[in-house]
Amino acid sequence: MSEKNNSNNSNDRSSFSGKLGFVLAAAGSAVGLGNLWRFPYCVAQYGGGMFLLLYVILAVTFGFSLMVAEIAIGRKTRLSAIVAFDKLKPEYSFIGVLASLVPIIITPYYAVIGGWVLKFLWSYITLPASAVAATNENGMTLFSELISSPTEPIVWFLFFLGITIFIIAIGVEKGIEKSSKVLMPILVILIAVVAIYSCTLPNAINGIKYYLIPRSKDLSVKTVLSAMTQLFYSLSLAMGIMITYGSYMKKNINIETSVWQIEIFDTAIAFWAGLAIIPAVFACGNPTNDLKAGPTLMFIILPKLFATMKAGRIVAIVFFFLVFFAALTSSISLYETCVSIIQDKFKQKRTPSIVFTFFICIIIGFLSSLGYGPLSMITFLGMQFLDLFDFLSNSVLMPIVAFFTCIFVGYVIKPKAIIDEVESSGHEFTLKKLFTVVIKYVAPILIIIILIASLLQAFGKITM
Ligand code: PHE
Repeated sequence: MSEKNNSNNSNDRSSFSGKLGFVLAAAGSAVGLGNLWRFPYCVAQYGGGMFLLLYVILAVTFGFSLMVAEIAIGRKTRLSAIVAFDKLKPEYSFIGVLASLVPIIITPYYAVIGGWVLKFLWSYITLPASAVAATNENGMTLFSELISSPTEPIVWFLFFLGITIFIIAIGVEKGIEKSSKVLMPILVILIAVVAIYSCTLPNAINGIKYYLIPRSKDLSVKTVLSAMTQLFYSLSLAMGIMITYGSYMKKNINIETSVWQIEIFDTAIAFWAGLAIIPAVFACGNPTNDLKAGPTLMFIILPKLFATMKAGRIVAIVFFFLVFFAALTSSISLYETCVSIIQDKFKQKRTPSIVFTFFICIIIGFLSSLGYGPLSMITFLGMQFLDLFDFLSNSVLMPIVAFFTCIFVGYVIKPKAIIDEVESSGHEFTLKKLFTVVIKYVAPILIIIILIASLLQAFGKITM
């Protein structure tokens, strides 16, 4: 994305070559740790089938409408989020500012998880699969040793962040995006194979049921909130990214069908990742504890799964390499966004912006790296640092940004402005009625209820 972000001038803005170019680039940003690491642990934690059902319902209503709105705002203004709202209505420029805070919080802790992935890739290259899954005499696994060490998570975090910055600094993101077009489909196939394998294990059926059958007792404000925030996170919504992507989209491209393609691709990968991990929790793990493992789930369960597999080590090496790659393309997109925000907002040159972003990453990244180990005694609202940053960006800021984006589109510039922009490509906007109802009424009301309930709950005022 470097050449795109270098130019903030609306006239000489470069464009994606065509519809496929746009869809693949947006999908490269969307598909990442959100699908492979975050989705499975959210499903596990928040009630399996009910979470999945809510996720799909929200994807085709909220996700669809917000993504159309964001891409259309970007294409209409030809500007990135931080300035786009300002250009359309200066009183609403605060939405762009709030949206910009999200990637600044996510980028560092994303690199911490990216570091964990690299650690596993390295472990499978150097050790047999059984050793990666083994528990030592102190009851520690390779993963629990990693997160409790005062140095190791930092080293892997810096390594992952270093690769991201190196690629951005030497300007080869285009090459990486091209390779991701080959590697991403391989990832889809591999994860589907792992998922099918996982489903054939003894006891997996309980996991398949847990994952696919919604139970009404799991329907709660918390489940709706977590499904909604996971949706925003996974589709890179409510943080200005799709506005930036839209600003590079050519006028003749059909926004509506592009959005469906991105959504289907992104949701399919998340679905397979859940199907690989949840049944394995029941087959090789301890459902009572592991379902609540949160951000550590993937790293607890997958080693056990690979240890039961013939050629598990090879599969694991290829798997973690592909996860690393998907994480890297998202991390590049996140880091680039932070750099362009600093460039746009503070009128800085590219190099100082890259360096400044690095310093923010170091602070948040160090805290997140050590939060499960040496700093585990420090918690806020009962959360370790990584969970806290995830909570702030996903459960607080993103719903606020999404809410104001809906108000902005629904009542300030009016849905017609977006519909006209979508139809300016010469294609009819088939679901414009759905879009209008969701943006004006359903989404803002639901978001505000959920946001207030979740904040009350986080501060211990209510239990859900
Ligand atoms: N959507 C990405 C994922 O699922 C995360 C991301 C968010 C990437 C925002 C870029 C920008 O992992």
